[in-house]
Amino acid sequence: RQNERESLYIILNFAKNFYVQQLHESDEGQAVGLSYFKERGFTGEIRKKFELGYSLDTWDAFSKVALAKGYSTQLLEKAGLLIHKEGSQTAGYDRFRGRVIFPIHNVAGKVIAFGARILKSDKSKAANQPKYLNSPETEVYHKSDVLYGIFQAKNAIRQLDHCYLVEGYTDVISLNQGGIENVVASSGTSLTVEQIRLIGRFTPNVTILYDGDIAGIKAALRGLDLVLEEGLNVSIVLFPDGDDPDSYVRKVGAEAFKAYLKNNAKDFITFKTEMLLQDAGNDPFRLAAVIGEVVNSIVKIPDAIKRQVFFHRTSEMMKVDEQMLITEGNKILRKLH
Ligand code: CTP
Ligand code: MN
Ligand code: MN
Ligand code: MN
Ligand code: MN
Repeated sequence: RQNERESLYIILNFAKNFYVQQLHESDEGQAVGLSYFKERGFTGEIRKKFELGYSLDTWDAFSKVALAKGYSTQLLEKAGLLIHKEGSQTAGYDRFRGRVIFPIHNVAGKVIAFGARILKSDKSKAANQPKYLNSPETEVYHKSDVLYGIFQAKNAIRQLDHCYLVEGYTDVISLNQGGIENVVASSGTSLTVEQIRLIGRFTPNVTILYDGDIAGIKAALRGLDLVLEEGLNVSIVLFPDGDDPDSYVRKVGAEAFKAYLKNNAKDFITFKTEMLLQDAGNDPFRLAAVIGEVVNSIVKIPDAIKRQVFFHRTSEMMKVDEQMLITEGNKILRKLH
C-alpha cells in the first residue's frame, strides 16, 4: 500500500514535469497553452507557483514517454493518466489531451491529481466535451477531501488567520495574481466536512466567495450548516450575476476587488436569513418555516455566546421575539443531545 502510494506520487510528479515542459518548450504548448494562460493574465511567476502545464493534442504523447522511461501501463492507469479498456489489446491512451493542466497538490505539496481545461478556441471540441476534465479517484486522490491550492495558500492562511474559499482553479490563480494568497477552491463540489476541517487546521475564519449565479448561492447555502458545526466563523460575498472572483478581479482590479470584499462580506447566518426572507415574502406560513430553518442553523454553532449573538440579531431581522427563538433552539438542542 505504502509502496503503491509512493509509486503514484512519483509518476504524478513525472507527469507534472512533463506537462510543464510541454507548455514552455513544445511549439504546440507555446502556441496554444502558453498563449491561453497569458490571455488570462497569468504571469510566469504564477504559472511556476501553481506548476501549470499543457498536454499535447495527441493520443499518447505522455504515455509513450512514460512507458519508455520504464513506468508500467498498470501504474499509469492507477494514477488516472492512462485510459485502458478492459480486455483491450491496445496500449490505451492519454486521459489528458490538448488541454491546459492545473496540477492538484496535497497539503504537503505532492501532486495527487490534475484538472485539465479545454481551450476556448476549440469550439468544435467544446461542444461535446466537458470544460474541465479531472483525474478520477485514485489511491492518493479523494476529491472530497481536497482543496485546490491549499499547499500554496497554507502559510498565508495561517499568517492572516483567514481563508477565502472559491469555486474554481482560475479563481484561486487570479486572486493570487492580484496579491491575495490565502485562497483555496472547493473545485465546484459542494463543501465537505473533510474540506472544512482542512481549512480549520490553519484558521477558524472563512469567507466564501461563490459565483454570482443561483447555483453558486444554493451551493453556498448547502455548505452552511456543515461549516457552522465545525465551529468556523463564516462570511460570504456574492458577486454580480454572471461574475466569478476571477472575472471580477480582472474587471475591477485588485484594489477595488479588496474593497468590494470588505463592503459586501456578510456573516453566513445573516446572509441565509436575508435570502430566506426574500423568498418567503409576506406569506405567514412561509415566514414561520424560515424561522424554523434559521434556528436550525444557529443551534449548529458550538459556541453558546455566538449562538446568543445570532439569536439576537436574527430576531431583529425577522421581527420576532428573541426569547421565542431561544426556546425553539433549546428544544432542538435537547433533542440532539
Ligand atoms: N468543474 C469541473 N468540471 C466541470 C466544470 C467545473 O470539475 N465540467 C470544477 C472546476 O474545478 C472549476 C470549478 O468547478 O474550476 C468551477 O466551475 P466554473 O465556474 O464553471 O469554471 P471556472 O473555474 O470559472 O473556469 P473558467 O473561468 O475557466 O471558465
Ligand atoms: Mn475520502
Ligand atoms: Mn466560475
Ligand atoms: Mn471563471
Ligand atoms: Mn439579546
